[in-house]
Amino acid sequence: MAQILIVDDDHQLRQSFERLLAAEGHAVRTASSGEAGIAAVREAVPDAVVMDVRMSGISGLEAYAAMREIEPRLPVIIMTAFGTTEIAIEATKMGAYDYILKPFDIPEILKLLDKAVAAGRSMRSRVAVGVEGEDAAAADAIIGRSPSMQELYKAIGRAAPTDATVLVRGESGTGKELVARAVYQHSLRADKPFLVINCVAIPETLLESELFGYEKGAFTGATGRKVGKIEQANRGTVFLDEIGDMPMSIQAKLLRLLQEQNVERLGGRQVIPVDVRIIAATNRDLEEAVRQGQFREDLYYRLKVVTMTLPPLRERPGDIPLLVRYFLSRYAREMGQADPGATDGAMAMLTAASWPGNVRELGNTLKKALIFSRGGPLSPDEVTKALGVPLRSTASPDGDGGESMADCIRRELASGREGLFEELMDRFGHLVIRQALEATGGNRSQAARLLGLSRPTLIAKIEKYGLRIEAQARIEG
Ligand SMILES: Nc1ncnc2c1ncn2[C@@H]1O[C@H](COP(=O)(O)OP(=O)(O)OP(=O)(O)O)[C@@H](O)[C@H]1O
Ligand SMILES: [Mg+2]
Repeated sequence: MAQILIVDDDHQLRQSFERLLAAEGHAVRTASSGEAGIAAVREAVPDAVVMDVRMSGISGLEAYAAMREIEPRLPVIIMTAFGTTEIAIEATKMGAYDYILKPFDIPEILKLLDKAVAAGRSMRSRVAVGVEGEDAAAADAIIGRSPSMQELYKAIGRAAPTDATVLVRGESGTGKELVARAVYQHSLRADKPFLVINCVAIPETLLESELFGYEKGAFTGATGRKVGKIEQANRGTVFLDEIGDMPMSIQAKLLRLLQEQNVERLGGRQVIPVDVRIIAATNRDLEEAVRQGQFREDLYYRLKVVTMTLPPLRERPGDIPLLVRYFLSRYAREMGQADPGATDGAMAMLTAASWPGNVRELGNTLKKALIFSRGGPLSPDEVTKALGVPLRSTASPDGDGGESMADCIRRELASGREGLFEELMDRFGHLVIRQALEATGGNRSQAARLLGLSRPTLIAKIEKYGLRIEAQARIEG
């Protein structure tokens, strides 16, 4: 649930928004003018604002400027009609989260709102570094006491208050994004925006305009001006995730930004000075990418000056019990349950298991274990189930010492719970995908072929089961 503020002088629009968002489970406040909107933000900062650009009294643009004074990290979505897009673009240049053209469709605005809320929270909800116990479970936290993690905490402390570019490296699921947020939150720019751009999630052609913007007529379809994220984040921090996958053409522009602190919009002639701090992350072997001509050497040297490397979980097994306690306490709280704790047997199993998806996979496994749990401390049996292991012996009904698939299904069906089909299929699917990745050494293209799935389908399943593992560093084909 999020706190949303709607600012519009149209009574009907406010009402329909209120109904729509309440049905989505959000808490909605409304304001009928820019002035009232500013007062509402001053009273309590919401998670996001949706505001009309043209209102009687002060305009949305002026109201946005005043809200930004109160809280620069507040995501504001500007609503605009065709005639007033220039003003909306002006607002994004000042840092507004995004704008949306009226009439908009409902799924579109809901999606945008979700993104805005998540962006605002990732800025404002603190990442606790190296704390334990109750304090940690209440927030996002970086957990771990091993020497490599302690080195990391020191590195965060040293680098955060400087404006240095930071490169965060490590396998999938080791906490790179958490570290990026921690660096930002401990920096002198902590009260300014933090924008995240995932370089693999956005197609090459869009990535360039997303980052740097464009002028009207820059290419077919560029019917107006667009302000890039870098410009939008002026005075703040930009997190370039999966930078190892950034196309070469864009790497050149990024290098220039790092060297000269300015950008040029696509099709534009104007050099626009910007003041942004860059934090980048990758799970790729950048040295290899440089050798193969996929990553610019000059950019690599520029980025790696301050590098933070996250250890994979297998190199710090001593931290697993700490992480288990953290996740159990955190997820139990989120599910409104009491923290069940774990038996020694369960803890030993979790510590001995292999975690190709690192901390993310461990966390997801514990979340599942809590869902299966019938109360009482987590047992080895519940861990086994959450790991999907009982489905291992598919061939013989008597099993090979482990429980056969048929037995497992029979037991679940006798458990008295309902609606089991999806859950059982998921557990089976999880196991199949995990095995396929193991069999191919994490090569997702090969695994997709083996299973007869398209690559995007496979990746969606990997995400769903929390199995993302390091694969991009390998040559796929
Ligand atoms: N040391 C840690 N302590 C507590 N939680 C952690 C830790 N490391 C990672 N997590 C949790 O694991 C999940 C994955 O972390 P994160 O997204 O930061 O990983 P990542 O390295 O960016 O992964 P990817 O390369 O797949 O994007 C998140 O839910 C995060 O909160
Ligand atoms: Mg990440």
